[in-house]
Amino acid sequence: MDKKVALVTGAARGIGYGIAGQLAKEGYAVAMMALSSEERVKENIDKIRAYGNPVLYISGNIAESECRKTAVESVMSEFGRIDVLVNNAGVAPKVRMDILETTEESMDFVLDVNLKGTFFLTQSVANIMVELSKKDDTVNPMIINISSISAYTSSVARGEYCISKAGISMITTLFADRLSEYGINVYEIRPGIIATDMTSVVTEKYNKMIFEENLLPIKKWGYPEDIANAVSVLCSGKLAYSTGQILNIDGGFHLRRL
Ligand code: NAI
Repeated sequence: MDKKVALVTGAARGIGYGIAGQLAKEGYAVAMMALSSEERVKENIDKIRAYGNPVLYISGNIAESECRKTAVESVMSEFGRIDVLVNNAGVAPKVRMDILETTEESMDFVLDVNLKGTFFLTQSVANIMVELSKKDDTVNPMIINISSISAYTSSVARGEYCISKAGISMITTLFADRLSEYGINVYEIRPGIIATDMTSVVTEKYNKMIFEENLLPIKKWGYPEDIANAVSVLCSGKLAYSTGQILNIDGGFHLRRL
């Protein structure tokens, strides 16, 4: 495969779909991994394919080791390389519960996907990237983790999610450190409030916070394209003398204001 290859998790819809589309538009062969069956999201896959570059869809759960193994093997047998891994797949708790009430089941569900799944997928792709960069010093593989403003913001009704996203920030730091000797840079994007299925259940709440309560310096919702553009900037290689770096794509949410 002459083209660069990107593996994007959670790519069937929302932010991951936006990222997959952007990378396909820029000439990458794209492997899209998500939970849904291929038939269910065929329309979205076809739209990515319409950019004219190879697309592979893998239905699987990043929380399960067999699925991760199959996913990585399929990308390697189809495309033979992985230049960019975008760890985007993530879940919110099925039910929002106060930290004084939440359950072990909910904690396990969220951490298994967001943290354990992301860590071990990164581990296996990182090993492939290390081999790739040893063989060919013109390649510059890269890993991009999609965390959240929840990495540092308390939401007491979904503590599991906040803990998982804080953990993703440490995954960024650890792999940035470990992989630097191989020329593999690792970055993190912290999205703010982005209009997707995940936030569709709290649209009214966030509308009020954004438009009436002055939550954001930039008074707008974010869209998957905003995150996809940030991925595009990182993939351009223009930030090559930087690793472990965090991009806040959040309408200025992270600013302290008085
Ligand atoms: P979404 O719920 O619309 O889409 C999630 C995607 O991840 C789907 O394609 C789904 O199939 C896939 N997925 C879920 N669990 C998976 C698993 N175990 N294995 C493989 N794929 C899995 O979510 P959205 O909003 O697009 O979020 C994407 C990422 O961005 C998540 O990590 C989320 O935490 C993060 N994020 C989202 C924000 C928002 O406001 N929407 C804000 C900050 C971060």
